Amino acid sequence: MSHRNEATAALKALSVATDACRECPLGAHATQSVFGEGPVGAALMVVGEQPGDKEDLVGRPFVGPAGKLFDRAVAELGWSREKLYVTNAVKHFKYEPRGKRRMHKTPGQREVDACHHWLESEMELVQPRACIALGGTAARSLLGRPVAVMTERGQWVEDAATGRRVLVTLHPSALLRGDPLQREAAWEAWLKDLSMASELMKKAGARRPAEKQPAAEKPEKPAARPAANHARRRVRMVME
Ligand code: URA
Repeated sequence: MSHRNEATAALKALSVATDACRECPLGAHATQSVFGEGPVGAALMVVGEQPGDKEDLVGRPFVGPAGKLFDRAVAELGWSREKLYVTNAVKHFKYEPRGKRRMHKTPGQREVDACHHWLESEMELVQPRACIALGGTAARSLLGRPVAVMTERGQWVEDAATGRRVLVTLHPSALLRGDPLQREAAWEAWLKDLSMASELMKKAGARRPAEKQPAAEKPEKPAARPAANHARRRVRMVME
């Protein structure tokens, strides 16, 4: 098996393992985990906060209202979503029931920390050249320190410890919640932030023009879920 296929298989195994993960309380209340998706070797890994209501039901990242906005930005920038690896800092939906609705609740640092090793495993397998952090939760998880998004947005930040390059910007939900009178300006500013990664996307496209990369699809959930540790052992075996 090629390295790319091995890494894709390992991502599938990790996706199954996150579904069984109970290292924090969130998994017990969510419909399913929402793992990342996209090709191994993607030049850019885009990291959000956590799945929302729609993502929790569908089992895919950024398919709800924030995802639609993200897709619009990707289209305007001339990128292709299939070439990105899109994931979240936290893999289960945290919410508060309100009547029949499930209202988004920001994950606590304990939950982000508990989920962090899944993100690191994705990073190791996908090997992106850089990351985009959508919002403060993603930025903190990627850079290992609190990040003032409005101060650090729109520029490449390099983590000295890991050498990781991260472009920090707002989460699309912030645009959806923002002042309607400022919406157009906020949209343009967000596109400007994201466009800092366009050169990287262009170079990546030029380097691998005809290569078709298999997406890390969401696997069918098994009837009997393997324990997280068991799956992690399997991933290690696959990669050795
Ligand atoms: N918000 C996120 O941060 N991630 C998703 O997948 C959806 C909404």
